[in-house]
Amino acid sequence: MNDAEHTTDASTQPLEDRVNNRSQRPSSDAFKAFMASSWAPASQELPAEEAVAAHAARRRRAISEQFKGERLVIPAGPHKVRSNDTDYRFRPHSAFAHLTGLGVDHEPDAVLILEPTDDGQGDDGGHHHATLYFRPMAGRDTEQFYADARSGEFWIGPRPSLADLKARLDLATAHLDELEVAITKNVGASEIGGISIRLLRKVDENIDALVDTARYNTAQDPENLDLSQLDALDEKLAEALSELRLIKDEWEVEQLKLAVAATVEGFHEVVKALPRAVAHHRGERVVEGAFFAKAREEGNDLGYDTIAASGNNATILHWINNNGQVKEGDLLLLDAGVEAESLYTADITRTLPVNGTFSEVQRRVYEAVLDAADAAFAAARPGLKFRELHQIATRVLAERLAEWGLLPVTVEEAVSESGQQHRRWMPHGTSHHLGMDVHDCAQAKRELYLDAELAEGMVFTIEPGLYFKSEDLAIPEEYRGIGVRIEDDILVTADGAVNLSAALPRTADDVEAWMASLRA
Ligand code: GLY
Ligand code: MN
Ligand code: MN
Repeated sequence: MNDAEHTTDASTQPLEDRVNNRSQRPSSDAFKAFMASSWAPASQELPAEEAVAAHAARRRRAISEQFKGERLVIPAGPHKVRSNDTDYRFRPHSAFAHLTGLGVDHEPDAVLILEPTDDGQGDDGGHHHATLYFRPMAGRDTEQFYADARSGEFWIGPRPSLADLKARLDLATAHLDELEVAITKNVGASEIGGISIRLLRKVDENIDALVDTARYNTAQDPENLDLSQLDALDEKLAEALSELRLIKDEWEVEQLKLAVAATVEGFHEVVKALPRAVAHHRGERVVEGAFFAKAREEGNDLGYDTIAASGNNATILHWINNNGQVKEGDLLLLDAGVEAESLYTADITRTLPVNGTFSEVQRRVYEAVLDAADAAFAAARPGLKFRELHQIATRVLAERLAEWGLLPVTVEEAVSESGQQHRRWMPHGTSHHLGMDVHDCAQAKRELYLDAELAEGMVFTIEPGLYFKSEDLAIPEEYRGIGVRIEDDILVTADGAVNLSAALPRTADDVEAWMASLRA
């Protein structure tokens, strides 16, 4: 299917028009008139305001406080082409979703603008007035209705009107046609009454170009415009938007719990699918597919590509080919997360014995990783430095590696900065913030991330692992080909930490009992 217009001029036809060559859409006036007629009237009923609206307003208010007097431009991003004229499923940029409350599917090409106002005259007593610019659903009397494959209702179903999103989000809305003026008007130096822009860059290249042009055209000395200085202004906005997500509000925590619950169900489905995986020549794909089915049934999608890694593949940290066999006697490392409709995702890993029972050496490695995770979890509370989670977990691993005779140095030498030999078998970090992005808050300053103290409302992973590659000659043969990671999603509360993913069995005994119960 495609929606392109028919054309006949073959020899001089530009390449970009040739997509039209397979269109047989009628263009007669009779057809157009008939298509525009006799549709039942659209419902006039407005949707209810969503629970997220008040939270999104508070987030916008917090950003407003940091950028008084400046126009803030936060795009959702465009569709991304997957292949020729087919797109990936649309997902808005997380900062846009966070500030609007919009989740799945909303809204390609949309832009949120926070327009500066006189002090205290903005939304909620702030310094800006927010407007969401987007392409509302076109009427059934327009050609867009049946001819636009990306946004026409005949192609992709109903979309919201300006009034719909205003009602849902309690946020002013305007047509995308008004965006260019809204971004470019009055741009210029403040000395002459102009407004400076801060843009969340690299989300929508059309908006980047629009802002660059506006800045260039209004610069007092365009030829010597210092682009790096302007980039730095923009980067400060990206940083602030990322840092705004370090502490989750109660609505976000609920969304993360939903994502975790669906992910737990997905892991159950995988255990049930293991016999089929073992019988299949690409059993890891069976595992991936079983989890994916749950992700689509219960949520929006996967939060990231599933790692379904069996045997030695479990020692490849981001193994997403998932085209290997799943063999009896091996371990299966499954790192997977369901993304909710709100776009919040879980990020959970369990390592399972394919035949339901850990071998002695598999259990030994598993329990070392579990002890590392438990030690980090036991220490997690407000006031602990984020970086200490990693130090606590990896020290436990270093101690076990020393016990087993694998460390070439003492534990103290290994954990010192000049050593780190234990990291040969766990070269990744132990924790990252989790939210709408699986690696959330990635643009936050180091002092607010790694060097920060844990605080109530933070959500992050604890995910130690040990990875003994089959080619690793520094270890005895019995360890080779074993990869174990255990990853849980942790919420910091006033008096400690809560393991949001504790519903999924963690101890070796509990994992075996769980597998036996699902496979009975
Ligand atoms: N699944 C990616 C990670 O655990 O960070
Ligand atoms: Mn993770
Ligand atoms: Mn993970």
